[in-house]
Amino acid sequence: MNELAPRPNNLDAFWMPFTNNRGYKAGPRMLARAEGMFYYSNDNREILDGTAGLWCVNAGHGRREITEAIQRQAATMDFAPTFQMGHPIAFAAAAKVAERTPPGLDRIFFTNSGSESADTALKIALAYQRARGEAQRVRLIGRERGYHGVGFGGMSVGGIGVNRKQFGALLPYVDHLPATHAPEHQAFSRGQPEYGAHFADALEALVALHGDTIAAVMVEPLAGSTGVLVPPKGYLERLRAICDKHNILLIFDEVITGFGRLGTNFGAERLGVVPDIITMAKGLTNAAVPMGAVAVHDRIFRAIVDAAPAGIELFHGYTYSGHPLAAAAAIAACDLHTAEDLPGRARAMEPAFEDAAHALKGLPNVIDIRTMGLVAGIELAPRAGKPAERGMRVFHRCFDAGVLVRVTADIVALSPPLIVEKPHIERLFGTLAAAIQAEAA
Ligand SMILES: Cc1ncc(COP(=O)(O)O)c(C=O)c1O
Repeated sequence: MNELAPRPNNLDAFWMPFTNNRGYKAGPRMLARAEGMFYYSNDNREILDGTAGLWCVNAGHGRREITEAIQRQAATMDFAPTFQMGHPIAFAAAAKVAERTPPGLDRIFFTNSGSESADTALKIALAYQRARGEAQRVRLIGRERGYHGVGFGGMSVGGIGVNRKQFGALLPYVDHLPATHAPEHQAFSRGQPEYGAHFADALEALVALHGDTIAAVMVEPLAGSTGVLVPPKGYLERLRAICDKHNILLIFDEVITGFGRLGTNFGAERLGVVPDIITMAKGLTNAAVPMGAVAVHDRIFRAIVDAAPAGIELFHGYTYSGHPLAAAAAIAACDLHTAEDLPGRARAMEPAFEDAAHALKGLPNVIDIRTMGLVAGIELAPRAGKPAERGMRVFHRCFDAGVLVRVTADIVALSPPLIVEKPHIERLFGTLAAAIQAEAA
């Protein structure tokens, strides 16, 4: 594994996130530069980026337009506050984002990450219910296997056990819907599975249990981090209808599905269901500068602002909300999305990507393949008594063969930059197929 790579002298100080630190530091893999569809390792090997970094570099790496926008802004004004103060570029960035969100969701609150966006959305939902005289609505509903980042709100509403169990009691008044995954009825579906709309009915059961104390439901329209779970046909529609019936806000966490990943600006558009609030991050700036945002329906914004006494209306925000460098990157990234019609490119490439993914059916240990837009999840049977080992070995084999994939336990998740072309798709799936074969035993 990469013994020749020059190593920085000291790997101790950096406590790496979501990482097996001991394992990684015993055999580090270092990325040194990036351009277009490729990373280059520090021993100068070309590595095809099958994951757009971490689902975020949607326009491809090193985009000159974004880099130059950041450079210009850094030279003009490095930082300015947005508390009781403003700078034009933050307003311009918000307007750009609002051009892309579904009609009505045009009030944009800036954060620095997906986690902060999730917690911000939950807080706005609680503030809204209180503003309209329903302060008893304090309960937040998430979904098993949901991922909404690592803040206490997102972690609590999220439904990934390992992300929660080290951290105590979490938020009170949180409940969860069941996950939508039913492999015995859905395995190897292309796009949305036929089976599973009824999983949404669990929300009716939670309303029966909790009465009028539910403020909001937060789900990923397509769950990414848990290993790619595509929503069953009719599921999100049913969730929307039950929320409307009971005055519950519906929040879509579009940190992964935003900015073209499903072939439309947001997943809401592709899936035909409009939530009340959308969270985003990642593709917003093409990941060149950290930034997140929450798009809020105008009705919610007005209810909170109009109900407030004179003065500050929402006691929430971050020093770096609307940071000038991030705002410059967001504007440039949005302009690139439009100029190159990146969602359209994703749509055009989807059939080839989907075919290549489903061609892995029949390889040893491949027990499910799930696809939508430029996202694919390939689920492998775990080795007996050694969950996640096969996945990690497939990951290493791909990396050593010059392809970056992502694994969640034994599920391989692929989400290349939206500029991907057919030869990249062939190399991506060809390398993965060879790695899966090699780990057949
Ligand atoms: C759906 C979703 N929400 C939230 C997050 C957290 O984003 P961040 O890591 O920027 O805090 C992620 C990250 O992958 C995500 O996929």
